[in-house]
Amino acid sequence: MGRKLVLANWKMNIPLCGIDAYTNSVTAEHLIIFPPAPYLTYLTAKGVKTGIQCISKSTSGSYTGETSAQIAAEVGCEYTLIGHSERRLNWQEDNSQLLQQCLRAHEQQLTTIICIGETADDHRSHNTKTAIEQQLAFLPQLSDSSRIIIAYEPVWAIGAKQAASLEIVNHIHQLIKNIIKNDSIKILYGGSVDTNNAGVFLASDYIDGLLVGRASLDVDSINEILSSC
Ligand code: PGA
Repeated sequence: MGRKLVLANWKMNIPLCGIDAYTNSVTAEHLIIFPPAPYLTYLTAKGVKTGIQCISKSTSGSYTGETSAQIAAEVGCEYTLIGHSERRLNWQEDNSQLLQQCLRAHEQQLTTIICIGETADDHRSHNTKTAIEQQLAFLPQLSDSSRIIIAYEPVWAIGAKQAASLEIVNHIHQLIKNIIKNDSIKILYGGSVDTNNAGVFLASDYIDGLLVGRASLDVDSINEILSSC
């Protein structure tokens, strides 16, 4: 098994003028950067491994503002996030759309990072198992499991002060493994990962890598996280 993966989800941050300084200081084979979509070409031309933060469920046509999997693949992008909680919440992405997005991505040989995780309400009412099962329900319809990675990101830990505890993450990752019954699918953790907790998560046999938001924007922090792998 190779090194664990670190995914840097820049979201709508880091302007073009900041990219050179970032990539001059941060390079690693096990790092994948998810920049704002217009910067994908710039980053892939530098030899950086990239992913797109979301893709269209359609192949082409009159879909203003959307990017197709084919367009992402053409500029050298190799990965896409699917169903990040911000997409589920703000763009009402549901399982039927996420399935179509995965199918479009796999047609273009993109690897899909399927983001799942319970809300704070689900967490409080001990509904995590049901929520996770529901979010994974479309997976059996995907024939190419070699292009699937799962990112467990409890919604209550994203953009929060504190990550989920290692105990919770290990437990939920085991639950996910039991549901998907495919040991070759990697399971990452995301949600308030930082320099203080990355090493602890990466040392766990149940955690195959990290999806990092805020801490990925800071060069020193992401380098420290990468060196824990
Ligand atoms: P965070 O974001 O690390 O800032 O909590 C993670 C994510 O949204 O993927």
